[in-house]
Amino acid sequence: MSTTFTNGARPSVYGAFQLGYVFVESPRIQDWKRLAADGIGMALSVDSPTLFAFRTDAHARRLIVSKSAQEDLAIGWQVANESALQTILNRLNARKINVQEIASEEAAVRGVKRIWRFIGPKRQQFELFTEPVLDATAPKLLTSGFVTGERGLGHVAITTRRPDAMIAFWREIFDAKISDFIEDRISGVNLRIAFLRVNPRHHSIAVAATKGLAMDPFVTKIQHLEMQAATLDDVGEAYRRCRALGFKIAMTVGQHTNDRDVSFYAVTPSGFYFELGWSSCTDEGERWPEMTHQGISVWGHKPQDQTLADQLAQIRNGVTSLLRNEYSPF
Ligand SMILES: [Fe+2]
Repeated sequence: MSTTFTNGARPSVYGAFQLGYVFVESPRIQDWKRLAADGIGMALSVDSPTLFAFRTDAHARRLIVSKSAQEDLAIGWQVANESALQTILNRLNARKINVQEIASEEAAVRGVKRIWRFIGPKRQQFELFTEPVLDATAPKLLTSGFVTGERGLGHVAITTRRPDAMIAFWREIFDAKISDFIEDRISGVNLRIAFLRVNPRHHSIAVAATKGLAMDPFVTKIQHLEMQAATLDDVGEAYRRCRALGFKIAMTVGQHTNDRDVSFYAVTPSGFYFELGWSSCTDEGERWPEMTHQGISVWGHKPQDQTLADQLAQIRNGVTSLLRNEYSPF
């Protein structure tokens, strides 16, 4: 992975950028420990009264959960090298997006040497890093493994009322490419989701928006976080464990139309969903046609523990969102 130059002019950071960590602040950290370690099957690497960290691979910390009075979330993005980082920082600067460089305890808590923090669309807190702390010992996972490497930790899905501005942000600053789109009608609302890739993973970012009247039915910072398990058995076993532990399942096991991921969605203690998936596609590369699929799933992915109150809350959130302005730096 390196910074490449197109036509000798604009440098591209495509392929030099990947999801690195997710830092969650929550009052419910014990429930997070049960979900992440006992349910999904990550390895607990930091176990203290106010902080848990989890591994999925050689990185010392991939998911960090810190005790806090309020729910919040920051997303860490790994940049492959200094030149790619400089390219990104120059672009943020050109857009007058303020970046804070931090090399203190805050970086150490996230399992990295240094972070460059800025506020992105929808006031998401993003943190860039180039040097993760690694752990040479094998993580003690309940799965047979997680698919990471140059594809990064997984993907995040974000709902927005300003999809064009959000997609432009990812394309202009991070050279994201469109893999495809999905349109579907869920709970009476027409949705269009754009899937953006920044490396060989089919998508690292999904941007979901309502068609017509722009509403945002989710109050959480992200709609879901996904990680990819090494085998289909891993997904089935994690689903069984999450059910046995009493975690709500937002959507049962099913298969997505575009990346062919077989996955389920558990409701996290912070309210957003955690998707654990497996895919038979191992040669993702550049083969994705920029097409629009109808329906998010080929089969399955049925709502399981969603109550009428949950559905009404999403409708209420959507209507309330009409009264707010959504921040965009673009
Ligand atoms: Fe997903």
